Amino acid sequence: MMQAQKQALTAALRWHIDAGADEALSDKPGDAARPAVKPPPAIQTADAPRPPQNFTPAAQAVPEKEDVAGGTHELKRKAQELARSAATLEDLCAAITAFDGLDIKRTATNMVFCDGNPRAPVMLVGEAPGADEDRMGRPFVGVSGRLLDRILKCINLDRAEEDPGKAIYISNILNWRPPGNRTPTPAEVDVCLPFIERHIILAQPKILILCGGVSAKALLGVDSSISRLRGKWHGYTPRTEGVVAHAAPIPAIATYHPAYLLRTPLQKKAVWQDMLIIQEKRREMKLIDL
Ligand code: URA
Repeated sequence: MMQAQKQALTAALRWHIDAGADEALSDKPGDAARPAVKPPPAIQTADAPRPPQNFTPAAQAVPEKEDVAGGTHELKRKAQELARSAATLEDLCAAITAFDGLDIKRTATNMVFCDGNPRAPVMLVGEAPGADEDRMGRPFVGVSGRLLDRILKCINLDRAEEDPGKAIYISNILNWRPPGNRTPTPAEVDVCLPFIERHIILAQPKILILCGGVSAKALLGVDSSISRLRGKWHGYTPRTEGVVAHAAPIPAIATYHPAYLLRTPLQKKAVWQDMLIIQEKRREMKLIDL
């Protein structure tokens, strides 16, 4: 191959990697025909319908006070409107699927909504889908997801469990994979916040686990480091207007992200402490037997 051709091919490859196309899904290029994806779990159940509490229809929404940076204001307004008008988890899933406001949707293969049991009293919120999650359309199915499953198993929580007492429900702050697994930008988090806040209100968990710094900061509305936020209880109340809260704040605990644990195994001890705190709270709230 000529040197010039090699350089052109290398430049093209670099361009694709920078845009987040960092793996080949098929031998032939083309529009990624969306792979068969396991549908999200059945999100309304006959025996435990969970009507949204204090639901404020979009028409009654109070106008926003705060402006957000650049052009995200209008996108956030649209996301808020869609989130508020979702009366069920299915509605919300459909609304997010239809939302075209973010570029990460264009580089993603699938929208990632949830996994696990929506009737579980414990809900975990991570950061954003990675490559495996993007391919499968489900959160935490890659290497860090497998570590997360093992950690949760230690306190008898399992996303495949039907018994709500042992089950967990899982989602992310962002529903699409940021290209190249980069950290979500503050604008992306801001635009997606109404979706995850409405998601939490519709799922009605009794305990929230905020997995990693992006999730903890976004949902608690603070700028502290994850090492300061983890290991203690916070009260979660949604900040998106019209995405109305439960009567009382939801107990929320932040912990390290499993991807961080894979790089820093010494911190597994801290996560184990966090799991014991969660276990204690489940007992205290009579979600499990003594
Ligand atoms: N990391 C996350 O935060 N969420 C996922 O779904 C996968 C990896």
